[in-house]
Amino acid sequence: MMAYSTSPVSTRQPLSIMDLAAMKQSGEKISCLTVYDASFSALLDQVGIDMMLVGDSLGMVIQGTTSTISVTVDDIIYHSRCVTRARQRAFVVADLPFLSYATAHSAIKNARKIMQLGQVQMLKLEGVHLEIITLLVTHGIPVCGHLGLLPQSIHQLGTYKVCGKERNEADKILADAQRLEQAGISLLILECVPASLAKRISAAVKIPVIGIGAGVDCDGQVLVLYDMLGISFGKRPRFSKNFMHHANSIEEAVKQYHAAVKNAVFPDAAHSY
Ligand code: KIV
Repeated sequence: MMAYSTSPVSTRQPLSIMDLAAMKQSGEKISCLTVYDASFSALLDQVGIDMMLVGDSLGMVIQGTTSTISVTVDDIIYHSRCVTRARQRAFVVADLPFLSYATAHSAIKNARKIMQLGQVQMLKLEGVHLEIITLLVTHGIPVCGHLGLLPQSIHQLGTYKVCGKERNEADKILADAQRLEQAGISLLILECVPASLAKRISAAVKIPVIGIGAGVDCDGQVLVLYDMLGISFGKRPRFSKNFMHHANSIEEAVKQYHAAVKNAVFPDAAHSY
């Protein structure tokens, strides 16, 4: 039986990165979903979802492509603006899309556009780009790291798979997380890694760690919204759960997800590695 209350949140002030850090300190789990439009943004906000990610997964679930590679800076700005117009409380993060942060010049130019036009609070980038992270942070842009499975590198990886199963690979991901923290990230997404590794990383860094396919011991959880509503097409990852199975409305499914994250009952072993 879930004990956490999902009563609507009344404050109009969006959560800040300090609020998310305080949640890690106090042991309160952070609930997060991807979102790409105003209607879902308002609904998730009303339920009390703490953080929304305007992810480049929009390439797959909105644009119908097979990877995130096709997503552009203008796509992220358009969807970020839709989301931020409708939210009141949730902390909003947007992805820096494929190759938009390959050089210092492009990182600053594209970060400025997304922050100013998309009105988001933080930008996420994949992999270990320490100088770019420090540059963005120096200019006042909060940065979210992303380690484990890196979808923007799919053509190098060949397939979407669990990362960090071998001891040396796991140790490298842990060391990378610590290097990213030192470079200045204030949030970390861990995708598709063994639960035991995510637990080690969450304990080793001070910043909140949000898992997707990374087990229950992260400081919070994120899923692709359309996966958890069972409406994405194609093969869904094993770690994703369809919350519509025991709900008779979208709002009810989001409430169940939010409560399951808050009560640390999602992901269970069947949705972890
Ligand atoms: O784009 C996205 O949806 C993401 C999640 C997989 C974390 O980056």
